[in-house]
Amino acid sequence: MSTDRPAILGGTPVLSQTHDDAERWPLFDGRDEAAVLAVLRDGDLSLHPVTRALEDDYRQRFGVRHALAHANGTLALLAAFRAVGLGPGDEVIVPSATWWASAVPALWLGAVPVFAESEAQSAGLDPVDVERRITPRTRALVVVHLWGIPSRMDELLALARRHGLKVIEDASHAHGATWRGRPCGALGDVGVFSLQSHKLAPAGEGGILLTDDDAVFASAASLGDVWRCWELPGPERRFAGTTFGIKTRMAALSAAVGRSQLARLDEHNAIRYDNCRRLEAGCSAAGLLAFTPPPESTRVYFEVLFRLADNCPLDAAVFVAAMNAEGAHVSLPRYPLLHQQPLFTEGRWNDLARLPAPLRHYDPLDLPQTTAMAGTLVRYPVFTRPALELVDAYITATARIMRHAPTIAALSPPVA
Ligand SMILES: Cc1ncc(COP(=O)(O)O)c(C=O)c1O
Repeated sequence: MSTDRPAILGGTPVLSQTHDDAERWPLFDGRDEAAVLAVLRDGDLSLHPVTRALEDDYRQRFGVRHALAHANGTLALLAAFRAVGLGPGDEVIVPSATWWASAVPALWLGAVPVFAESEAQSAGLDPVDVERRITPRTRALVVVHLWGIPSRMDELLALARRHGLKVIEDASHAHGATWRGRPCGALGDVGVFSLQSHKLAPAGEGGILLTDDDAVFASAASLGDVWRCWELPGPERRFAGTTFGIKTRMAALSAAVGRSQLARLDEHNAIRYDNCRRLEAGCSAAGLLAFTPPPESTRVYFEVLFRLADNCPLDAAVFVAAMNAEGAHVSLPRYPLLHQQPLFTEGRWNDLARLPAPLRHYDPLDLPQTTAMAGTLVRYPVFTRPALELVDAYITATARIMRHAPTIAALSPPVA
């Protein structure tokens, strides 16, 4: 035990060197700088053609008729919710295990999120639970490819078709992921990517809406992109004098960064993939549970999380403390479950939805499967450069903690 003693019990940490640089993101180089400078020198930071060029890049890469750039992913989701026709009292089924922007913008349209379970093995929306939650008021589903793991699209698209529901894909974590070889983000009625700085093809701030549907595109343009609204061939163009009041246009400097980062997406994703696959193999051998993407899919690694098995004597917070005592950068998951947030549990959501009578009560004890999964999660860093030695050190530290888990559980003070 002496040389193998976990650092949390007084041993020597496995990781003695700082390794912040291996996690650095985004990765910029002269190509990004040149792209930004070119726009700056041209001078027009609002209506520069670089934003159209970014949309063309997305159209081509994702094989869709329309791509519309937005100031951020949250606004692109608002545009998507409106464009599929969500209105007062309509229900939209969403996972609780996601970032709030997958659900909350729907409230501004008077639509009501209905939270459904996520699957324990893949973290995607559970099609069986979704079907149970459909009511005569349900109009749409939001499918989130959480952490880069594609959700079960065959089942979700089929049940949406059966019940006449629209499918909105929130692919903000999933640039480069595929389902049966087709790109996530281009599988539903409308897809949205966030290009916020942490994402896989970052622009600083930005969002992209993708669709094959001319009416969805026209609706998104008329929400708040006056320039694109003027150009619409159909009747939605009549709103160009006012729009619907929310300015959605992406800044040209962000679009320049978004283009040069999208061009390097596959190269960046491949490095993350190699590091994370090795990490998953090693940590699984040590007893952690890795997430398993559906076999029809290829995932990408926006984030890498594991579950602690039911028989693991450590709770997630103690495991994190033990790993970090080894010099690692492990944390609890970043997103709280949405159905347990005060916006919903205290009924404040109707401040936004303004329904004459609140249609729904949100119970923090709902979604036992998702809640149980969330309580076992631990989040590892994604290394953005080739870092196999570092990955191996994380595996060594993990194996050490798991070997000594009963002792750590018995001896370590509770973690606040
Ligand atoms: C799953 C998901 N959807 C939507 C968004 C919102 O995107 P943005 O931050 O660009 O508004 C984010 C993240 O930021 C996200 O993680």
